[in-house]
Amino acid sequence: MRRSLVSAILGRLAAGGGVTRRSSVIAIDGPAASGKSSTAQMVAEKLGFLHVDSGSLYRAATAAILRLEKDPSRWSEQSVLDAARPLELRAARTSFYPILEGRAIEEEIRGQEVTRNVSRVAQMPRVREWVNAKVREAAAAKNVVVDGRDMGTVVFPDADLKIFLVADSRERALRRLRQRGTPASEQLLDDETIRIKERDERDAKQTVPAPDAVTIDTTGLTQSEQVEQIVGLSMQRSR
Ligand code: CDP
Repeated sequence: MRRSLVSAILGRLAAGGGVTRRSSVIAIDGPAASGKSSTAQMVAEKLGFLHVDSGSLYRAATAAILRLEKDPSRWSEQSVLDAARPLELRAARTSFYPILEGRAIEEEIRGQEVTRNVSRVAQMPRVREWVNAKVREAAAAKNVVVDGRDMGTVVFPDADLKIFLVADSRERALRRLRQRGTPASEQLLDDETIRIKERDERDAKQTVPAPDAVTIDTTGLTQSEQVEQIVGLSMQRSR
Protein backbone atom coordinates (compact mmCIF):
# COMPACT_ATOMS: atom_id res chain seq x y z
CA MET A 1 0.00 0.00 0.00
CA ARG A 2 2.84 2.39 0.91
CA ARG A 3 4.28 2.30 -2.59
CA SER A 4 1.04 3.11 -4.35
CA LEU A 5 0.23 5.76 -1.74
CA VAL A 6 3.58 7.46 -2.23
CA SER A 7 3.27 7.33 -6.01
CA ALA A 8 -0.30 8.59 -5.79
CA ILE A 9 0.81 11.58 -3.74
CA LEU A 10 3.93 12.45 -5.65
CA GLY A 11 2.97 11.41 -9.15
CA ARG A 12 5.76 10.40 -11.48
CA LEU A 13 7.13 11.55 -14.74
CA ALA A 14 6.63 8.76 -17.26
CA ALA A 15 9.95 8.22 -19.06
CA GLY A 16 10.01 10.43 -22.14
CA GLY A 17 6.25 10.87 -21.98
CA GLY A 18 5.96 14.24 -20.33
CA VAL A 19 2.77 13.14 -18.59
CA THR A 20 2.73 13.09 -14.79
CA ARG A 21 1.21 9.82 -13.65
CA ARG A 22 -0.65 9.60 -10.37
CA SER A 23 -2.23 6.22 -10.94
CA SER A 24 -1.33 2.53 -10.83
CA VAL A 25 -0.17 0.62 -13.88
CA ILE A 26 -0.05 -3.13 -14.43
CA ALA A 27 1.84 -3.91 -17.66
CA ILE A 28 1.16 -7.22 -19.43
CA ASP A 29 3.41 -8.00 -22.39
CA GLY A 30 4.02 -11.03 -24.55
CA PRO A 31 3.99 -12.44 -28.09
CA ALA A 32 0.99 -12.76 -30.44
CA ALA A 33 -2.01 -14.66 -29.10
CA SER A 34 -0.40 -15.29 -25.72
CA GLY A 35 -3.67 -14.20 -24.10
CA LYS A 36 -2.55 -10.71 -23.09
CA SER A 37 -5.67 -8.77 -24.04
CA SER A 38 -8.31 -11.09 -22.62
CA THR A 39 -6.24 -11.58 -19.45
CA ALA A 40 -5.63 -7.84 -19.10
CA GLN A 41 -9.35 -7.17 -19.51
CA MET A 42 -10.28 -9.69 -16.80
CA VAL A 43 -7.58 -8.48 -14.40
CA ALA A 44 -8.79 -4.90 -14.93
CA GLU A 45 -12.37 -5.88 -14.17
CA LYS A 46 -11.37 -7.73 -10.98
CA LEU A 47 -9.32 -4.80 -9.70
CA GLY A 48 -11.68 -2.04 -10.86
CA PHE A 49 -9.00 -0.71 -13.24
CA LEU A 50 -9.45 0.21 -16.91
CA HIS A 51 -7.93 -1.91 -19.68
CA VAL A 52 -5.79 -0.29 -22.40
CA ASP A 53 -4.87 -2.55 -25.35
CA SER A 54 -1.90 -0.85 -27.04
CA GLY A 55 -2.12 -3.34 -29.94
CA SER A 56 -5.59 -1.96 -30.71
CA LEU A 57 -3.95 1.39 -31.52
CA TYR A 58 -1.41 -0.18 -33.91
CA ARG A 59 -4.32 -2.03 -35.47
CA ALA A 60 -6.45 1.14 -35.64
CA ALA A 61 -3.63 3.07 -37.34
CA THR A 62 -3.33 0.20 -39.84
CA ALA A 63 -7.10 0.21 -40.47
CA ALA A 64 -7.03 4.00 -40.94
CA ILE A 65 -4.30 3.89 -43.60
CA LEU A 66 -5.92 0.89 -45.30
CA ARG A 67 -9.09 2.97 -45.75
CA LEU A 68 -7.03 5.46 -47.76
CA GLU A 69 -4.48 3.25 -49.52
CA LYS A 70 -4.82 -0.50 -50.01
CA ASP A 71 -1.27 -1.03 -51.25
CA PRO A 72 1.09 -1.20 -48.23
CA SER A 73 4.16 -0.62 -50.41
CA ARG A 74 2.91 2.95 -50.92
CA TRP A 75 2.64 3.72 -47.20
CA SER A 76 5.10 6.11 -45.61
CA GLU A 77 5.53 6.87 -41.93
CA GLN A 78 4.02 10.31 -42.55
CA SER A 79 0.98 8.98 -44.44
CA VAL A 80 0.27 6.48 -41.65
CA LEU A 81 0.58 9.22 -39.02
CA ASP A 82 -1.73 11.52 -40.98
CA ALA A 83 -4.29 8.73 -41.34
CA ALA A 84 -4.03 7.91 -37.62
CA ARG A 85 -4.30 11.51 -36.37
CA PRO A 86 -8.14 11.57 -36.08
CA LEU A 87 -8.14 8.39 -33.95
CA GLU A 88 -9.22 8.77 -30.36
CA LEU A 89 -8.89 6.41 -27.43
CA ARG A 90 -12.20 6.62 -25.57
CA ALA A 91 -12.88 5.34 -22.05
CA ALA A 92 -15.86 3.03 -21.57
CA ARG A 93 -16.88 1.29 -18.34
CA THR A 94 -14.04 -1.26 -18.19
CA SER A 95 -11.72 -0.39 -21.07
CA PHE A 96 -10.48 2.17 -23.55
CA TYR A 97 -11.27 1.55 -27.20
CA PRO A 98 -10.29 3.29 -30.45
CA ILE A 99 -12.77 5.54 -32.24
CA LEU A 100 -12.38 6.66 -35.86
CA GLU A 101 -14.65 9.30 -37.34
CA GLY A 102 -16.96 8.99 -34.34
CA ARG A 103 -17.37 5.21 -34.55
CA ALA A 104 -15.95 2.14 -32.79
CA ILE A 105 -13.92 0.05 -35.25
CA GLU A 106 -13.42 -3.16 -33.27
CA GLU A 107 -14.49 -5.54 -36.04
CA GLU A 108 -12.38 -3.77 -38.68
CA ILE A 109 -9.19 -3.82 -36.59
CA ARG A 110 -9.44 -7.59 -35.90
CA GLY A 111 -9.77 -8.46 -39.62
CA GLN A 112 -7.20 -10.43 -41.64
CA GLU A 113 -6.04 -7.47 -43.72
CA VAL A 114 -5.16 -5.43 -40.64
CA THR A 115 -3.51 -8.43 -38.94
CA ARG A 116 -1.39 -9.10 -42.05
CA ASN A 117 -0.10 -5.53 -42.20
CA VAL A 118 0.01 -4.31 -38.61
CA SER A 119 3.64 -5.34 -37.94
CA ARG A 120 4.79 -3.10 -40.82
CA VAL A 121 3.07 -0.11 -39.20
CA ALA A 122 4.45 -1.09 -35.77
CA GLN A 123 8.02 -0.81 -37.15
CA MET A 124 7.61 2.94 -37.72
CA PRO A 125 9.30 4.83 -34.87
CA ARG A 126 7.01 7.87 -35.00
CA VAL A 127 3.93 5.66 -35.00
CA ARG A 128 5.34 3.96 -31.90
CA GLU A 129 5.77 7.37 -30.27
CA TRP A 130 2.20 8.29 -31.19
CA VAL A 131 0.82 5.06 -29.64
CA ASN A 132 2.97 5.44 -26.53
CA ALA A 133 1.77 9.01 -25.97
CA LYS A 134 -1.88 7.92 -26.28
CA VAL A 135 -1.39 5.05 -23.84
CA ARG A 136 0.42 7.25 -21.30
CA GLU A 137 -2.31 9.86 -21.60
CA ALA A 138 -4.93 7.20 -20.78
CA ALA A 139 -2.90 6.07 -17.77
CA ALA A 140 -2.32 9.59 -16.46
CA ALA A 141 -5.71 9.84 -14.81
CA LYS A 142 -6.89 6.23 -14.32
CA ASN A 143 -5.59 3.03 -12.80
CA VAL A 144 -4.93 0.82 -15.80
CA VAL A 145 -3.93 -2.62 -16.97
CA VAL A 146 -2.07 -2.08 -20.24
CA ASP A 147 -1.11 -4.83 -22.63
CA GLY A 148 1.25 -5.00 -25.58
CA ARG A 149 4.85 -5.81 -26.35
CA ASP A 150 6.86 -3.04 -24.73
CA MET A 151 4.60 -1.71 -21.99
CA GLY A 152 6.95 -2.80 -19.17
CA THR A 153 10.17 -1.86 -21.00
CA VAL A 154 9.58 1.36 -22.97
CA VAL A 155 6.23 2.86 -22.04
CA PHE A 156 5.98 2.25 -18.28
CA PRO A 157 9.43 1.30 -16.98
CA ASP A 158 8.09 2.27 -13.53
CA ALA A 159 4.92 0.11 -13.70
CA ASP A 160 3.73 -1.23 -10.35
CA LEU A 161 3.66 -4.78 -11.73
CA LYS A 162 5.07 -6.22 -14.97
CA ILE A 163 3.96 -9.54 -16.42
CA PHE A 164 5.34 -11.31 -19.50
CA LEU A 165 3.00 -14.00 -20.82
CA VAL A 166 4.38 -16.80 -22.97
CA ALA A 167 2.81 -19.93 -24.45
CA ASP A 168 3.75 -22.62 -26.91
CA SER A 169 3.12 -21.46 -30.52
CA ARG A 170 0.74 -24.34 -31.37
CA GLU A 171 -1.29 -23.62 -28.23
CA ARG A 172 -1.46 -19.95 -29.23
CA ALA A 173 -2.64 -20.94 -32.73
CA LEU A 174 -5.34 -23.14 -31.19
CA ARG A 175 -6.53 -20.25 -29.01
CA ARG A 176 -6.70 -17.89 -32.01
CA LEU A 177 -8.80 -20.39 -33.98
CA ARG A 178 -11.10 -20.89 -31.00
CA GLN A 179 -11.40 -17.13 -30.57
CA ARG A 180 -12.55 -16.86 -34.21
CA GLY A 181 -14.95 -19.78 -33.79
CA THR A 182 -13.05 -21.79 -36.44
CA PRO A 183 -13.02 -25.62 -36.02
CA ALA A 184 -9.36 -26.62 -35.56
CA SER A 185 -8.39 -29.10 -38.29
CA GLU A 186 -4.70 -30.13 -38.36
CA GLN A 187 -4.21 -28.14 -41.56
CA LEU A 188 -5.72 -24.93 -40.18
CA LEU A 189 -3.72 -25.36 -36.99
CA ASP A 190 -0.48 -25.80 -38.98
CA ASP A 191 -1.23 -22.69 -41.07
CA GLU A 192 -2.11 -20.55 -38.05
CA THR A 193 1.03 -21.74 -36.19
CA ILE A 194 3.13 -20.61 -39.16
CA ARG A 195 1.40 -17.20 -39.25
CA ILE A 196 1.95 -16.73 -35.52
CA LYS A 197 5.63 -17.68 -35.79
CA GLU A 198 6.07 -15.24 -38.69
CA ARG A 199 4.51 -12.44 -36.63
CA ASP A 200 6.74 -13.43 -33.66
CA GLU A 201 9.74 -12.89 -35.93
CA ARG A 202 8.55 -9.55 -37.25
CA ASP A 203 7.75 -8.30 -33.72
CA ALA A 204 10.78 -9.86 -32.00
CA LYS A 205 12.64 -6.57 -31.56
CA GLN A 206 9.98 -4.99 -29.35
CA THR A 207 8.81 -8.21 -27.63
CA VAL A 208 11.35 -8.52 -24.84
CA PRO A 209 10.56 -9.03 -21.14
CA ALA A 210 11.61 -6.27 -18.75
CA PRO A 211 14.32 -7.47 -16.33
CA ASP A 212 11.86 -7.09 -13.45
CA ALA A 213 8.90 -8.75 -15.21
CA VAL A 214 7.31 -11.93 -13.86
CA THR A 215 7.15 -14.44 -16.74
CA ILE A 216 4.12 -16.73 -16.73
CA ASP A 217 3.96 -19.68 -19.13
CA THR A 218 0.25 -20.07 -19.82
CA THR A 219 0.49 -23.18 -22.04
CA GLY A 220 -1.10 -25.43 -19.43
CA LEU A 221 -3.10 -22.79 -17.56
CA THR A 222 -6.75 -21.89 -17.85
CA GLN A 223 -7.68 -18.27 -18.38
CA SER A 224 -8.99 -17.92 -14.84
CA GLU A 225 -5.80 -19.47 -13.38
CA GLN A 226 -3.62 -16.89 -15.12
CA VAL A 227 -5.95 -14.06 -14.11
CA GLU A 228 -5.87 -15.23 -10.47
CA GLN A 229 -2.05 -15.38 -10.51
CA ILE A 230 -1.77 -11.81 -11.73
CA VAL A 231 -4.43 -10.47 -9.36
CA GLY A 232 -2.61 -12.28 -6.52
CA LEU A 233 0.73 -10.72 -7.49
CA SER A 234 -0.84 -7.29 -7.69
CA MET A 235 -2.36 -7.71 -4.19
CA GLN A 236 1.05 -8.77 -2.82
CA ARG A 237 2.75 -5.74 -4.38
CA SER A 238 0.24 -3.26 -2.97
CA ARG A 239 0.44 -4.58 0.60
O1 CDP B 1 -3.34 -9.89 -29.97
P1 CDP B 1 -2.06 -10.04 -30.74
O2 CDP B 1 -0.92 -10.36 -29.85
O3 CDP B 1 -2.18 -10.92 -31.91
O4 CDP B 1 -1.71 -8.65 -31.38
P2 CDP B 1 -1.99 -7.23 -30.79
O5 CDP B 1 -1.62 -7.14 -29.35
O6 CDP B 1 -3.35 -6.82 -31.18
O7 CDP B 1 -0.91 -6.36 -31.59
C1 CDP B 1 -0.97 -6.26 -32.99
C2 CDP B 1 0.41 -5.86 -33.50
O8 CDP B 1 0.76 -4.56 -33.00
C3 CDP B 1 1.56 -6.77 -33.11
O9 CDP B 1 1.72 -7.84 -34.01
C4 CDP B 1 2.75 -5.82 -33.13
O10 CDP B 1 3.24 -5.66 -34.43
C5 CDP B 1 2.13 -4.48 -32.73
N1 CDP B 1 2.34 -4.10 -31.33
C6 CDP B 1 3.56 -3.57 -30.98
O11 CDP B 1 4.48 -3.51 -31.79
N2 CDP B 1 3.75 -3.08 -29.72
C7 CDP B 1 2.77 -3.13 -28.81
N3 CDP B 1 2.97 -2.60 -27.60
C8 CDP B 1 1.52 -3.71 -29.15
C9 CDP B 1 1.33 -4.20 -30.41
